[in-house]
Amino acid sequence: MGFIEEIKRRRTFAIISHPDAGKTTLTEKLLLFGGAIHVAGAVKSNKIKKTATSDFMEIEKQRGISVATSVMGFEYDGYKVNILDTPGHQDFAEDTFRTLTAVDSVIIVIDAAKGVETQTRKLMEVCRMRNTPVMVFVNKMDRPCNDPFDILDEVEKELHIKVRPLSWPIGNGELFKGVYNLYEKNLYLFQASKQTVEEGQDIDINSDELDKQIGERAATQLREELELCDGVYPEFNVDDYLKGEVAPVFFGSALNNFGVRELLHCFLRIAPQPQPSKSEARIVNPEEEKFSGFIFKIHANMDPNHRNRIAFCKVCSGKFERNKAYKHVQLGKELKFSSPTAFMADKKSIIDEAYPGDIVGLPDSGNFKIGDSISEGENIQFKGLPSFSPELFRYIDNDDPMKAKQLAKGIDQLMDEGVAQLFVNQFNNRKIIGTVGALQFEVIQYRLLHEYGASCRYEAISLYKACWIDSDDEAELEEFKKRKVQYMAKDKWGRDVFLAESGYMLQMAQEGFKKVRFHFTSEF
Ligand code: G4P
Repeated sequence: MGFIEEIKRRRTFAIISHPDAGKTTLTEKLLLFGGAIHVAGAVKSNKIKKTATSDFMEIEKQRGISVATSVMGFEYDGYKVNILDTPGHQDFAEDTFRTLTAVDSVIIVIDAAKGVETQTRKLMEVCRMRNTPVMVFVNKMDRPCNDPFDILDEVEKELHIKVRPLSWPIGNGELFKGVYNLYEKNLYLFQASKQTVEEGQDIDINSDELDKQIGERAATQLREELELCDGVYPEFNVDDYLKGEVAPVFFGSALNNFGVRELLHCFLRIAPQPQPSKSEARIVNPEEEKFSGFIFKIHANMDPNHRNRIAFCKVCSGKFERNKAYKHVQLGKELKFSSPTAFMADKKSIIDEAYPGDIVGLPDSGNFKIGDSISEGENIQFKGLPSFSPELFRYIDNDDPMKAKQLAKGIDQLMDEGVAQLFVNQFNNRKIIGTVGALQFEVIQYRLLHEYGASCRYEAISLYKACWIDSDDEAELEEFKKRKVQYMAKDKWGRDVFLAESGYMLQMAQEGFKKVRFHFTSEF
């Protein structure tokens, strides 16, 4: 197969949801279709259990599982499908944000009974920032839930995106009878707990056959609803979906393997192939001959005795080849990879080549940071891996004077991995760790001790937000930094960050210094 065909047949996407909506179950069913796994239950849940906040072994175990299921590739119907897993736990939201920079589209899973939940809303914001095409799967239709029109209204309102149903549910809960596929125009009858998948039946919705199959009442209701549906929602237009303006919606039950195949079929047909990537200097097209890629995730120390890490590289252009020398742009040094890995379902194997859209696992002994680029010589710096202002902050101090070096190194490496963000206060020179969730503080402390032999102590600090600042007016910027010297810090790239103690303080700063811009993400 030619290079261009290889690119065209790739679909790289992430499934996102609020915890418990059914992401793991849906992923598993998709893998079953792809023949990548053969029994249900083979994909371990990648979520940190709610009870595990202080159970470190559990966290470690979860990390072990999540590396295996970080990327799941499989072949289906001539397509190469790459599903990128995202941690559902909100404390790892930053991980998820970064993973979203490596995908070309997204499937959002929503629990039909619970509707749109917080985590989904936040993740959708990231998709919107990048105009990522999204498809919605309304799951758990076998449970009692709201009217489909209400669910769709909620999705539209809460996720700020227009929707277009491409399948329509017939009842819900115990009265759930199936779905009518509006895309293929056929009927699928629901049978609970079936592992096999029913074929769709071509039934004219105006025929008596429909009444026979689902009963007169349900048939009448379906006809009415479909009519209303066509009246309310404009005809589906693939381009609007590709621009991220309209989200096609499917209904089903992942647990019962119902509605999943329709979702997959439509997805493969309309979801985007690998898309161009933005770099500082130019747009990089996947079809370009020369290889380039960026690191969006680093998984460290699977074995604490060896400092082995895996850097996840998204191939952006050209063909990646094993044992070929590539340039690590930020270090300005040549690297060769003798055992790059690909991820097929829950297995990982050494590969000789990879194409745009693929994710390659690069064994790493500490060369990579999140956001680093590799190329065939060009100084490409890919964009789009922003850090967001953390939500929680603590001073981190050394608790063992003999191990200061180990601590510094440990903190450095954990920050490279993107576990949390480090700010150095310019006034007192103290290090501040910023995270999105409380769990990270425990993970950091545990890993510093077990992987670097360093112990740390935290001290509470009350901060509201960290904002990156800049201005076209150099003098005003300098004046601001002087006036707020106690609250000024540097991030790991040495950029200026203002640490606001409260919303009020931030507002005062913004009012007092109109020419200073305050940014809540590191990329502006
Ligand atoms: P997540 O990855 O989004 O966190 O969700 P996950 O797939 O783990 O699903 C959360 C729970 O919802 C699981 O039950 C799962 O079996 C159930 N579930 C998923 N899809 C459906 C569906 O279509 N219908 C119904 N009724 N339930 C569904 P659990 O009890 O938490 O776990 P388990 O013991 O079943 O594994």
